[in-house]
Amino acid sequence: MKILFMGIRDDERPALDRWMQEHPQHDVEATTEILSADTVGMVDGFDALTVQQVIPPEPEVYAALQAAGIRQISSRTAGTDMYDIALAQKHGIVITNVPVYSPNAIAEFALTSALYLTRRFAQIEQKLQHRDFRFGGLLGRELATLRVAVLGTGSIGLQTARLFAALGATVVGYDPYPNDAFTEVGQYAPSLEEALDGADVLTLHMPLMPATHHVIDQAALARLAPGAIVVNSGRGGLLDTQALLAALDSGHLSGAALDTYENEAQFYRYDWSDRDLGDPVLEQLLDREDVLMTPHVAFYTETAVENLVVGGLENAELAARTGTAPSVVSPA
Ligand code: NAI
Repeated sequence: MKILFMGIRDDERPALDRWMQEHPQHDVEATTEILSADTVGMVDGFDALTVQQVIPPEPEVYAALQAAGIRQISSRTAGTDMYDIALAQKHGIVITNVPVYSPNAIAEFALTSALYLTRRFAQIEQKLQHRDFRFGGLLGRELATLRVAVLGTGSIGLQTARLFAALGATVVGYDPYPNDAFTEVGQYAPSLEEALDGADVLTLHMPLMPATHHVIDQAALARLAPGAIVVNSGRGGLLDTQALLAALDSGHLSGAALDTYENEAQFYRYDWSDRDLGDPVLEQLLDREDVLMTPHVAFYTETAVENLVVGGLENAELAARTGTAPSVVSPA
């Protein structure tokens, strides 16, 4: 089978090379071009397509793919918001994704971010930069003494709960669809509010949707224990950033670690080093010593990239050959 691998990044090449060696029966060609009305002609002569879009393909792309005999688009991502699933279906094209590629990558990152705050690494670094070797302001807290609220106990939240529990934390969870495996490491609270009550660490792992937009607002933050920290490696919109800043300013919260930010789309993955951000809230978050900002990289490990590349290629091959795959995305 001839597979076109679009939108390749340098970090994907080793995994692609390994897959090609293990599957000599398939012929894969890679390009850095992403799928668009200008590039869709590249699919001529190919049987299958895997892509990773940073912008959505234009509507006419689906008809062009159909005309070229392509029956699938295999996205090397978990999210599928780049695609018009209904339009794709109208043109006989199935969209597949890689829904679970390494929950552990995000779980490890959430744990590391929490430890960065509880062991006061920012303050340590700041003092050492000034050659101040005194202990003042560096008193840490141990996870085994803390109550950790995990909101959303799906693939990532469950693994995060396991890692915190392994270090002795008391883990409390909330999920409208409870998961038996979670009860081996933590206890479910009957409501989201009760999970927050008195928590020292809050970590967010539910999807962003209208019902969860700003679910962590001023009232939710007020339920946390004094001195609590908030870790958001879920989606920026889950958290009301202004309410977070107010809770940090009042001293109710001692820190926050944000891998996602409400208005991140125009910034993350781009080089803004020579431009004014024009976003005073992001500027403030970046400048604060009590906030650890990271640019949506919690997922970004060698293991995750390998799983996305392999998953993307296998879905492409399977869906092109059979017309379906286990991870076909349905219209909303
Ligand atoms: P999942 O679908 O396995 O788990 C999500 C869980 O949230 C489900 O169990 C669901 O029942 C639960 N949930 C839904 N509404 C809820 C609510 N109101 N309160 C509490 N729980 C609720 O998804 P997975 O793979 O664990 O991913 C979770 C989220 O993590 C994704 O939706 C995505 O936004 C984020 N993510 C972040 C990444 C990063 O690099 N920072 C990478 C990948 C995912």
